[in-house]
Amino acid sequence: MRRWLAVLVAATTSLVLVSLLVPLALLVRSVAHSEAVASASRAAESVAVAVGAMDADAADEETLRLTAEQAGASSGHPVTVFLADGRVLGAAAARTRAVDLAARGRSLTAAAPGGREILVAVQGAPGGTAVVRAFLGDGDLDRGVHRTWLALLILGVALVGLGILVADRLARAVVRPTTALAQVSHRLAKGDLTARATPQGPPEVRTAGLALNHLAGRISDLLAEERETVADVSHRLRTPLTGLRLEAESLTDPGEAARMEARVDALERAVTAVINDVRRRSRERASCDAVAVVRDRAEFWSVLAEDQSRTFALDLVPGPLPVAVPAEDLAGCVDALLGNVFAHTPDGASFRVRLTSRPGGGVALTISDAGPGFGPGDPPRRGESGAGSTGLGLDIARRAAEDSGGSLAVGRSDLGGAEVRLLLGSPVARGEQRLDG
Ligand SMILES: Nc1ncnc2c1ncn2[C@@H]1O[C@H](COP(=O)(O)OP(=O)(O)OP(=O)(O)O)[C@@H](O)[C@H]1O
Ligand SMILES: [Mg+2]
Repeated sequence: MRRWLAVLVAATTSLVLVSLLVPLALLVRSVAHSEAVASASRAAESVAVAVGAMDADAADEETLRLTAEQAGASSGHPVTVFLADGRVLGAAAARTRAVDLAARGRSLTAAAPGGREILVAVQGAPGGTAVVRAFLGDGDLDRGVHRTWLALLILGVALVGLGILVADRLARAVVRPTTALAQVSHRLAKGDLTARATPQGPPEVRTAGLALNHLAGRISDLLAEERETVADVSHRLRTPLTGLRLEAESLTDPGEAARMEARVDALERAVTAVINDVRRRSRERASCDAVAVVRDRAEFWSVLAEDQSRTFALDLVPGPLPVAVPAEDLAGCVDALLGNVFAHTPDGASFRVRLTSRPGGGVALTISDAGPGFGPGDPPRRGESGAGSTGLGLDIARRAAEDSGGSLAVGRSDLGGAEVRLLLGSPVARGEQRLDG
């Protein structure tokens, strides 16, 4: 925008200046010409007065010569007097046809080699009409004109430069607040809902800043409302849970009752964690030890694996291995992936959980099974399930991985079934680089 404004101002001021300065330059030249002719005419006429008053004696001739030379020296134009008897006084000059013409009694201006001659006829001079000639060289006609033109040119360029400078200042006054607005909207787009614009600049840009702030406020409010709604919906799970707890307590087998109660407790804790998690205003950038979290979740699932006669291999590198994912989120990822093994592979299908460190920080979590594997179109998009469920599990894991700077990839495992590979970034690298998988 700054460049466009500068070009626009340069073009318009140049047009205006050209339309003013060109006629002015022509006028300057014409005034200089008139002034030069007038100066030569004055010199010739002053000598003509002396010629008209002269007598025929020799003393007057000498006075006239001196007068002509003096007039020539003071005006800068050589002055010559042609007397009727053929005598020539003053500056040396040839008697031209124009001089003969003037000798008939008519003053005139005629072109001469190297300039012009101003011829003044003096009637009543001794012996007949005399002619006073003042010579005007070509250089005298344009004297001072080129200097004036140069001054006009410098003035024009200076005015165009000044115009561009002022336009640039104005453009900056508009561009700076607009750029600040763009930065605020980028921060909002990245999820920083605290970003606000400082209204500044021209009224229109200030209005846009206020509107952006209003929009940011509305987004925060709507998200807060959305979180509360999700929390309320999750809270509804408590009612069936209470029913389940009562059922568990009424079991006659004390061992089975204790086991069921432990499961209901875990479920209740999970629901509470979901509600608290959803209600958190912003997702703080927490990290955790991947080895500890994966071991804890693997222990939980190993009990179920035993119930379903599944062979389960756990391959963990020694910890701690910090990753840029909150512990609850990583636990949620592992649960989603292992939950898939239990939901989408038949009882008895073996599976393996492997956690390795990555060069440069972060970890690779690989969950492989000996089930049927992914279908041809898998992995499906978020919300699409091949088993009539909600279709969120893989996407939850993918988003947690990407938030940490990593990624999720699915494929076929060496056990013959599905393999999900989760790359998680380290807290140090978060925000500085993304893992390339
Ligand atoms: N280990 C697996 N073996 C075979 N297919 C799988 C496996 N894991 C996931 N899939 C396929 O990928 C689909 C998407 O999985 P995802 O976890 O995203 O959703 P879901 O399990 O269907 O539903 P939700 O996890 O929300 O209950 C599944 O429906 C299933 O078809
Ligand atoms: Mg699932």
